[in-house]
Amino acid sequence: MGLRDWYTERVFPWILERVGGPQSHALRARCVAGAQGDVLEIGLGTGQSLKSYGPKVRKLTVVEPSTGMHALARQRLDACPFETEAHQLGAEALPFDDETFDAVVCTWTLCSVQEPDAELSELHRVLKPGGRFHFLEHVRSDEPGVLRWQQRIDPLQRVFACGCTLTRDTEALIREAGFDYDSLEAIDCPDMPPPHPKLYPLILGIGRIHYD
Ligand SMILES: C[S@@+](CC[C@H](N)C(=O)[O-])C[C@H]1O[C@@H](n2cnc3c(N)ncnc32)[C@H](O)[C@@H]1O
Repeated sequence: MGLRDWYTERVFPWILERVGGPQSHALRARCVAGAQGDVLEIGLGTGQSLKSYGPKVRKLTVVEPSTGMHALARQRLDACPFETEAHQLGAEALPFDDETFDAVVCTWTLCSVQEPDAELSELHRVLKPGGRFHFLEHVRSDEPGVLRWQQRIDPLQRVFACGCTLTRDTEALIREAGFDYDSLEAIDCPDMPPPHPKLYPLILGIGRIHYD
């Protein structure tokens, strides 16, 4: 295993387990709690969301490309009180039929995917009409001074957080992918990682498919 794979598959999952405090965990729980029916979560990571799914989930399908993340998520998946199905792949090409899921979920994932347009288009495709898209993401700051710091730090962030970028305008990307917002909250989260919490402004929301 090369240094880069060792970092991605062993070190980063270990970091992810330890990063974020009570507020981050509570926000993740809020994001997933309302998902119901047949649910798809992309970028499961180590499975920290799993304990917060509510009783109305029938089956949870998860998609995550990293072997190291899957290894840490396994026990949590096995402990779920509903049926689960795990796929080791990225969300840019999903092996599911159109209109399969009642809800799609992602927490802190659209910052890390290489092709956000492709991933969002796939989420749109596999969501049933009337289904809901639950998301929690850190995004590009609309404060010019903070954005400048995000831009300065971004090259390091991409290396040490395995492709994660600080400067993505995810709110706009979700809308451009064909979703309307049922709810959208901007949140400053003080227990995000150093060097400065303002570098990680969050959006928490629920989207649905836009119809003209
Ligand atoms: C910052 S972590 C967040 C993990 C988890 N959702 C959480 O809240 O702790 C980003 C996750 O996205 C995954 N990821 C990266 N590229 C992806 C892709 N193309 N499709 C789906 N997940 C991806 C990474 O492997 C990683 O587990």
